[in-house]
Amino acid sequence: MAGKIPAHFIDELLNRVDIVDLINSRVQLKKTGKDYQACCPFHSEKTPSFTVSREKQFYHCFGCGAHGTAIGFLMEYDNLGFVDSVEELAARAGLEVPREAGGDSGPDYRPLYESLDQTTRYFQWQLRKHPDATKAVNYLKQRGLTGEISAEFAVGYAPPGWDNLIKQQGQSEKELELLRKTGMISEPEDDKCYDRFRDRIMFPIRNHRGQTIAFGGRILGDGKPKYLNSPETVVFHKGKELYGLYEARKALRKIERLMVVEGYMDVVALAQFGIRYAVATLGTATSAEHLEKLFRTTSEVIFCFDGDRAGRDAGWKALETSLPLMRDGREARFLFLPEGEDPDTLIRKEGQEQFEQRIAQSTPLSSFLFDKLESEVDMQSLGGRAKMAEQAKPLLAKLPAGLFREMMHKRLSEHVGLTQGQLGTTPMQEKSGKRQPLRKRQGAQQTVSPIRRAITLFLLKPELALLTELPTGWHNLRAPGINLLRQLLEIVQIQPNLKAAQIIERWREEPEFPHLVKIWRTATELSTPESGMDQEFRGALQRLVEQQHEQETSQLLERVSTGDASEQEKQHLRQLLSEKQKITDSHKRSE
Ligand code: UTP
Ligand code: MN
Repeated sequence: MAGKIPAHFIDELLNRVDIVDLINSRVQLKKTGKDYQACCPFHSEKTPSFTVSREKQFYHCFGCGAHGTAIGFLMEYDNLGFVDSVEELAARAGLEVPREAGGDSGPDYRPLYESLDQTTRYFQWQLRKHPDATKAVNYLKQRGLTGEISAEFAVGYAPPGWDNLIKQQGQSEKELELLRKTGMISEPEDDKCYDRFRDRIMFPIRNHRGQTIAFGGRILGDGKPKYLNSPETVVFHKGKELYGLYEARKALRKIERLMVVEGYMDVVALAQFGIRYAVATLGTATSAEHLEKLFRTTSEVIFCFDGDRAGRDAGWKALETSLPLMRDGREARFLFLPEGEDPDTLIRKEGQEQFEQRIAQSTPLSSFLFDKLESEVDMQSLGGRAKMAEQAKPLLAKLPAGLFREMMHKRLSEHVGLTQGQLGTTPMQEKSGKRQPLRKRQGAQQTVSPIRRAITLFLLKPELALLTELPTGWHNLRAPGINLLRQLLEIVQIQPNLKAAQIIERWREEPEFPHLVKIWRTATELSTPESGMDQEFRGALQRLVEQQHEQETSQLLERVSTGDASEQEKQHLRQLLSEKQKITDSHKRSE
């Protein structure tokens, strides 16, 4: 991806996305006064100390100290990098992330996406216009696909022949190179390349922005391989992508749940029958990365498998992969279909309502886990129960700390008839999440330095930057933080409408970022009434000036007393002392 993300876009994004909605889509929030609360997703706790402020567009946990903006939340909660968090938020807001020209943040894949989009359109066009298209259309009809759903998934047709695509889209060396890089043509053999996909129904695989990144191609009828997929390329990583996720997001305003199925045809058939929330892995088992992606979009994931032995085994594997991701608030369930059926065949037989009935009755992760382990031992005997406990413990240990894990341990102890102490799973012995709660500091209102005070006030009310009659000379001071404060004020002087969260985001790459975030986080603890802020801000700057004066004065006095001071320094000292006199006088007057 070329170019830096411009700051104005981050501003726009933070304006459009409400942190309360965002966090609420992942952690259920409860309104308390003007803020929102929940049990902290970043450490284990039973009483909520995680607070989200709509006004500040900021979250903060009083228990473990986690805090940040909407972007920071995604980075932390979804385990994303900065750019991915911005992309994710932009997708939520329906915005395209612009890039500044001439950036150097990695290679530019745009020509690849353009080439793939062109290929998508070409295959769609072939499905209508190619002399053999009736064959393909008939196949789709026979499979029960409507034209409408085929169009929605941009289904196409790669005609028979070795070089249709090459002729269409690979006439220059540059174009040919793109076809090679996107995996659309084979690696050269004896200096010749040929189309990878021939005489196949083509399913484009699209990323969250709707760009084609790869294809799956099905043979018409029997033959091998039944499905051919694009190879791994720089824009396509099979183990991460989910077929149908883009289409689900497009079709649904709010994604309440996602269901993972096995095949392309299953996704399309389910969508055609009104189940718009199915996605498929691309011939691989569900990976942790898939699950991260799924839980980033929704809190409820259903795994759908065939009811046969292989399906059950695949289900168990999915369970094992899910365990470390089962934070509180997330839910995973398992749906096993009758033998010989897949979602495509079943939904065509019984329709949406009955299929959704099955989904509603699918097995929760907890039941699947305990039922499976219990079915393998004799739960009537103590030995069997002990064995079952031994098998369960390492699995439960994979769960992240939280109420769900405690509930599972409790359930285990009930099932095997041993106390949690006997099982060695007493909740209090467990390590909590990655952050240890901080001791609540006593007397948080310690003496705050004037610079910190000024920055705090500024973040609470950025318009302070527009105040006139600020003490002169404060910005020439050399105290730590002065530069930062000056830059903060300047940015608001240029863009007066910026809010604190937006301002802070601009410092993300800077060493001062953690300080700023910390100041903002504690800003609530010193709630100054709005009316007094201007005065207090001036006062803080005034104190800065005074502090500096005092420091300089004492240094100069020292030099004068040792006889080291130059004439110039003596002059400066006299000036400082007279200014000090003026200040003292004015203080006296105002008292
Ligand atoms: P299935 O063999 O279960 O196919 O493969 P299906 O989805 O029911 O397909 P239809 O109904 O016969 O058309 C499930 C998935 O496994 C991958 C594909 O992603 C497919 O959707 N697969 C399967 C391959 O990649 N290659 C193959 O040869 C077969
Ligand atoms: Mn099938």
